[in-house]
Amino acid sequence: MSPLLPFAAPPPPGEVVLCCVDIPRRLDPSTVARLREALPDDERARHERYGDEGAAGEFLCGRALLRAALSTWGAVERRAWRLTHNAHGRPDVEHPATTARFNLSHTRGMVALALGRDPAVGVDVERLDRRVRPLEVADRFFSPDEVTELRALPEARHRDRFLALWTLKEAYIKARGMGLALPLRAFSFMPDEAPPRVRFDPSLGDDAARWCFARVDLDPGHRVAVAAKVARLTVHVVRVDLDALAHHVGLPRATGGV
Ligand SMILES: CC(C)(COP(=O)(O)OP(=O)(O)OC[C@H]1O[C@@H](n2cnc3c(N)ncnc32)[C@H](O)[C@@H]1OP(=O)(O)O)[C@@H](O)C(=O)NCCC(=O)NCCS
Repeated sequence: MSPLLPFAAPPPPGEVVLCCVDIPRRLDPSTVARLREALPDDERARHERYGDEGAAGEFLCGRALLRAALSTWGAVERRAWRLTHNAHGRPDVEHPATTARFNLSHTRGMVALALGRDPAVGVDVERLDRRVRPLEVADRFFSPDEVTELRALPEARHRDRFLALWTLKEAYIKARGMGLALPLRAFSFMPDEAPPRVRFDPSLGDDAARWCFARVDLDPGHRVAVAAKVARLTVHVVRVDLDALAHHVGLPRATGGV
């Protein structure tokens, strides 16, 4: 049986495996049943509480993918990994059986999981056709420099630039684990640089030289960004097929399934 991930162990520091799964708005019942096999009781209960079928599917696929990946690299049953949460809700895994750390993101139709050994890693995925008014949201949330540069572009480029900034800003606040407790206006991204760079307001108490960012060209319909507090960052993209994931989690780990 082919492995779910083409890596035998978590990547070395400074490298991130970015696993992306395309998911339909409606999962078929047999896929749901198989994926739920990977979840512990509290996550199954949370899955059942989602009122929206799309959001429920995103949560289910994300956690099943996470648990399958962790069990690929550590001899612990998928359901048995215990996740901790910080004061801002960031889930993390701290277990002697793994050196892996992670961050998850989902958008309608896709789940993205960033896996590595560095604890400060963040990922954000957004759909390009997401309903949003770029200038209105930018005025509310982006830094003055980001707004000025966005407004200077032709309107046809607003959406793409906006989503590049949005995903980078989300990836950074997620890597910090603080979510919207960090003031989004207090840092400015330069998304067109390769790799993207950031300027921090002194009030943020952070050092831009300690961070690396990547924009990932996944497909024409999505924008993805990764942030990591590392000296150099390499991102390995792995597309995971949903049926393959459901098949793997339907197999017992002892037989080589993940
Ligand atoms: C919660 C938050 C960290 C991300 O929310 P989001 O963009 O809606 O959701 P994403 O799909 O990218 O990420 C959700 C996942 O991040 C993880 N997460 C939750 N809280 C987190 C935190 N404080 N730090 C890092 N990761 C977190 C979880 O794994 C969660 O998925 P799960 O519960 O299914 O496991 C927070 O940044 C937020 O509420 N953002 C709102 C969006 C917004 O207004 N952005 C403005 C950008 S300019």
